[in-house]
Amino acid sequence: MQVAVYSSSSYCSALTPHLFMASNSKPKTKLITRGCGPSSSYKKKKKKKVLCQIELKPPPYPTNALEPYISRESLEYHWSRHHRGHVHSLNKQIAGTDLDDMPLEDIILTSYNKGHFLPSFNHAAQVWNHDFFWQSMKPGGGGRPSGQLLQLIERDFGSLERMLMELKAAASTQFGSGWAWLVYKANKLDVGNAVNPLPSEKDNKLVVAKTPNAVNPLVWDYSPLLAIDVWEHAYYLDYEHRRVDYVSTFLEKLVSWEAVSSRLEMAMQRAAKRAREEEKKRMEEDDMIIGDKKAMEVYLNSDEDSETE
Ligand SMILES: [Fe+2]
Repeated sequence: MQVAVYSSSSYCSALTPHLFMASNSKPKTKLITRGCGPSSSYKKKKKKKVLCQIELKPPPYPTNALEPYISRESLEYHWSRHHRGHVHSLNKQIAGTDLDDMPLEDIILTSYNKGHFLPSFNHAAQVWNHDFFWQSMKPGGGGRPSGQLLQLIERDFGSLERMLMELKAAASTQFGSGWAWLVYKANKLDVGNAVNPLPSEKDNKLVVAKTPNAVNPLVWDYSPLLAIDVWEHAYYLDYEHRRVDYVSTFLEKLVSWEAVSSRLEMAMQRAAKRAREEEKKRMEEDDMIIGDKKAMEVYLNSDEDSETE
């Protein structure tokens, strides 16, 4: 019997029991939760720090819900071995450091360190990537996007088919392990923590990207909309070496366009808010310059007055 130990927050109480009761067979994994409240050892040793760190989130559907495209065995292995391993390792790495009180996104951006990764980057990014990946799929997924998402896809790629072709190519050609992404690119300038890979491209548009290992588009300040895990562990049990088949099945049968649409809406709202803030800042700076000029004119005029007295 496998044992899943959760190092988690109050989220533990909300962990979906269906995760391990999804199939017709008996659950293979026993769920043990460990909340972030004081443990028994904490009660005995009050100086010991209470860890309330990054949580292990389960997929938002039963582990057999993506069959026959992703098997229960593959999903349980992927989640309970790989995802859980990253959560466990990350929490060990950040315990007692400046990172252990940060939100996961901040840990990623801090530890990315302009491409010179700090030790916790890979595990932090992989935790985020997997959380995002599970939400990118749904039982009965696939089909065609609609609404504003489809409009922007057609605006920025010419057609849905063209976008899917680029995304499949990115996922298939990512050398070794990594991720393929559809992202909303709201910046055309270099960002603080990394060099924007497409600085000359028009901003506020959809783009396809691929990243090696654990890297994700958050480090470029892009807004990820869709992720495809192309690490071999994501597909080998079901597709062996046939990554192309796995990617095609993902896009035809599993992708949740509803999740992508929802993320796009949030990304555009975020970009619009930033644009308003930047415009306000620019206007305030202009007002300060005008104010300084007027003050200088008054000062100069006062000099002239004093000379004529
Ligand atoms: Fe993975």
